[in-house]
Amino acid sequence: MHSLDHLAIIMDGNGRWAEERGLPRHEGHKAGALAALRMVEAASARGIRYMTLYCFSTENWKRPRKEVGFLMGLFSDIPAHYLDAIDRIGCRILHLGSREGLPQPVLRSIDSLVARTARNSGITVQAAINYGGVDEIVRAARKAVADGSGITEETLRMHLDNPEVPPPDFIIRPGGEKRLSGFMLYLSSYAEIGFYDTLWPDWNPEMMDTVIADYQARNRRFGGL
Ligand code: IPE
Ligand code: IPE
Ligand code: MG
Repeated sequence: MHSLDHLAIIMDGNGRWAEERGLPRHEGHKAGALAALRMVEAASARGIRYMTLYCFSTENWKRPRKEVGFLMGLFSDIPAHYLDAIDRIGCRILHLGSREGLPQPVLRSIDSLVARTARNSGITVQAAINYGGVDEIVRAARKAVADGSGITEETLRMHLDNPEVPPPDFIIRPGGEKRLSGFMLYLSSYAEIGFYDTLWPDWNPEMMDTVIADYQARNRRFGGL
């Protein structure tokens, strides 16, 4: 049976979760952050080695200033609120996405999370903050041209963000929408994809068992027979 090595999640549905409860949308983002921590712990406990979490897309800047500001505040506060829990899980954090346009406090938070967890030997979590799949490919192409390696499949791959991280095996999207919204466009080529109706803040650790079983029921052919 093939094992689920890298699970990537489009963490969607925070706003609707809050609206259903008559709460402001930002309460949904807070609940979504707690769900992220729960699900990283659940994944780690089940032997998943890599996880990528879509936290903020290059298109999410279009949202109202107040919501963007709240999300940036949430990202800035991760070390203060979650570093102990992250260390307890043994989780190593990497950033996926562009630094350009991110406020200084968010960059400081990302840099300190990456540095502080670099020697953790458990699950590796890529936090996709200011991430766009087209943007990642364009930046990779520019880097490959700038350092003289030129454009081949191999050089593009090597200039993506975090080239040491293997491609996602399973990309899942909670929250009911059936699209990728720019997520991992290059490395998703042969990923399995799953859509779930449950809104992200409602996800609980047992649902990780369902996800793993769903993945194991897939028949991966990679173009072969
Ligand atoms: C996902 O939840 C989190 C981010 C995009 C930052 P949404 O905020 O998109 O929630 P819905 O889709 O409006 O319910
Ligand atoms: C995708 O969700 C991005 C994240 C989960 C961070 P969106 O809610 O932004 O996607 P669309 O707008 O429904 O495609
Ligand atoms: Mg959404």
